[in-house]
Amino acid sequence: MTVNPVSTNSSASLISPEIGKSAIDSAHPTLKLGILASGSGSNFEVIAEAIQKGQLNAEIPVLIYNNPEAKAAARAEKYGIPAILLNHRDCKSREELDTKIVKTFQEYDVEWVVMAGWMRIVTKVLLDAFPDKVINIHPSLLPSFPGIRAVEQALAAKVKITGCTVHIAHLEVDSGPILMQAAVPVLPDDTAETLHARIQVQEHKIMLGAIALIAESH
Ligand code: GRF
Repeated sequence: MTVNPVSTNSSASLISPEIGKSAIDSAHPTLKLGILASGSGSNFEVIAEAIQKGQLNAEIPVLIYNNPEAKAAARAEKYGIPAILLNHRDCKSREELDTKIVKTFQEYDVEWVVMAGWMRIVTKVLLDAFPDKVINIHPSLLPSFPGIRAVEQALAAKVKITGCTVHIAHLEVDSGPILMQAAVPVLPDDTAETLHARIQVQEHKIMLGAIALIAESH
C-alpha cells in the first residue's frame, strides 16, 4: 500500500479531521500496530488511548521495550496490551535484537511498526521484514537535527522554529519519507526541557494523524 506523504510545518492543518471523533471505517481492516518504545511511552499511550476511544481504526497486539526501566511497560498494562522486554544488552549485535523483534511481531500478526521513542538504531533485518511499514517520530523538523539530542541541537543552532516529524524509517538514522510535521516556536527562555515538553504536545497530534492516514489507506 501507499501512504501519500504530507509535509508541512503548520500544525494547525495537519491533523486528520477524523481525529477527535470516531474514525472507525468498516471499509478498511483494522490496522495491527507493533510498538517499539524505550522510555516514557507517552506517544505509545496516546495511540492506545485513541484506539480505546474508537478514534483510530487500529489495534496494538503487542508492545516491545528494550530497557527494563521503561515506563512504557506500565502504560501497556493499563490498556491490557502485552509488553515484551527484549533487552539489547542480551544481544550480540543490532541484527540479533532486530531478529527477535521481527519474530515477536510476526507471532502477533503485526502489519506496521511504530518506533515511539525507540532509542536503538534499526537494521535491514527489521526494515526488510516490514518494507516501508516502519514509522518513527523525531523531535525536530527533519531533515534538520537528526540523531540524538535533537532539541539541544536546535537550541545550540539558535533556530526560531523547530518541531517534530513522523516519517517512514529508512536505513540512515532519522531518514525516509515524511508523513507529517508540526512546527513549534523556540521561546527566548526555553531550556531543552521546556521546549521538549511543547514539542511533545505536537508529537502526540501528528502521531495520531499519521496513523490515521495509514489506517485510511491500509
Ligand atoms: C520523543 O520526543 C520522540 O520524538 C523521541 O523520543 C521521545 C519519546 O517520548 N524519538 P515518549 O517516550 O513517547 O514520551
